[in-house]
Amino acid sequence: MTKRVGIFVSGGGSNMRALVNDMTGDHPARPAVVVSNNADAGGIAWARAQGIATEVIDHRPYGRERASFETAITQALAPHALDIICLAGFMRVLTEGFVAPWAGRMLNIHPSLLPKYKGLHTHARALEAGDTEHGCTVHLVTPALDDGPVLGQARVAVHPDDTPETLAARVLVQEHRLYPAVLRRFAGRNTDPLML
Ligand code: GAR
Repeated sequence: MTKRVGIFVSGGGSNMRALVNDMTGDHPARPAVVVSNNADAGGIAWARAQGIATEVIDHRPYGRERASFETAITQALAPHALDIICLAGFMRVLTEGFVAPWAGRMLNIHPSLLPKYKGLHTHARALEAGDTEHGCTVHLVTPALDDGPVLGQARVAVHPDDTPETLAARVLVQEHRLYPAVLRRFAGRNTDPLML
């Protein structure tokens, strides 16, 4: 049966667009809803223009009440009957209360070769460390931040004249290859790590 995918974004949503654009034809999944904590996220406008359902749950009124924010997300998701969640540049940390019920069904893309550089500023940290290789990882989401079994990685060479921005741009190109390829396999029940 075709899997229903919810994609979570906070910004431009270029990874979300790559996922949506791949979910056609014989792909075992389809986009059911795009979710954002930010009403102004470029990804939300794009999803609406594609005729994809959207849900915006602004995190700010909840302050430190993460559990209430997550309950609001759960309620918004209910009518969409999702099988899979893809975090795609969703910049809010989700707690165990939200993550646990989605164990084995929620994916994230992170702009580093995990387990290196969990958290933020991954490109600057790779440059500071003098790494010659960098990249991105798609993994299953567990309660620990940027942890969880790796479903795929794509690598790029670091150039001597790279800045965090040039490196981020080159990694992003690989993110757009990796995430759709991993989701396609995952929706077809293949969880063997894909190394691009
Ligand atoms: C991507 O580079 C993604 O890997 C990163 O945010 C960017 C979102 O871009 N995610 C994280 O840093 C998560 N910790 P996009 O909105 O254009 O897909």
